[in-house]
Amino acid sequence: MKTVATRYALPLRALHWATVAVIAVVYLVAEFRGYLPREGGQRALAMQWHMFLGLFVLLLVLPRIGLRLVQPAPPILPPPARLLRWAALATHLLLYAFLIAQPVLGLITAQSAERAVAIPMTDWALPALVGRDPGLHETAEELHEWLGTAFYFVIGLHAAAALWHHFAVRDNTLRRMV
Ligand code: HEM
Ligand code: HEM
Repeated sequence: MKTVATRYALPLRALHWATVAVIAVVYLVAEFRGYLPREGGQRALAMQWHMFLGLFVLLLVLPRIGLRLVQPAPPILPPPARLLRWAALATHLLLYAFLIAQPVLGLITAQSAERAVAIPMTDWALPALVGRDPGLHETAEELHEWLGTAFYFVIGLHAAAALWHHFAVRDNTLRRMV
């Protein structure tokens, strides 16, 4: 008899929550870097961490997508209405697209302005994948900032939906991810 999974596979759950934690730090550093003094290199170091951890997000999402393609999501019980299922799928696809696009745009923003993307507190810097290009820099920077703001709302909606399922509908949506 085939058993039906009641939770996402462990690697998928681990990758989901690791991504949430890393994104939280990446956002915090971006938002609060302005309070750090420019002198002494503290602000620059904070940005190095922003960039390094931002790229780490990309490293987490690629195997996650691969795994997800071979490991289906466990069923939600009781099953939500069809429209809600489509809305959830659309939000999840948007989130995956963001997890790829935002780090890539960040990398283009930095490297098109000849800003080194290094492992913080080491001399190791990523080779320049993008050359100096002021026009590209401006476009990528604007998109990176715009997406950064827009996804506060998408992520907020996603988290609110998970809590609504858990506390109001009282189905197993959230329990499948913990
Ligand atoms: C998922 C990952 C990432 C998120 C959520 C994110 C988010 C943000 C946010 C919210 C800002 C502040 C925008 C503003 O000042 O309004 C920012 C700025 C910035 N990010 Fe990222 N970022 C990510 C990854 C990266 C990566 C991987 C790099 C580079 C390798 C990068 C480079 C930058 C740079 C250079 C700025 C400053 C732009 C400026 O001059 O204002 N980011 N990011
Ligand atoms: C940076 C923030 C977050 C990102 C980028 C994110 C991303 C994602 C993605 C892409 C999925 C789809 C998984 C799949 O089926 O392939 C997902 C599922 C899920 N997430 Fe998040 N998530 C975030 C924060 C949260 C938070 C804060 C919560 C809880 C309050 C949460 C709860 C869930 C749940 C319960 C699912 C399963 C939904 C379902 O199968 O219908 N997520 N998340």
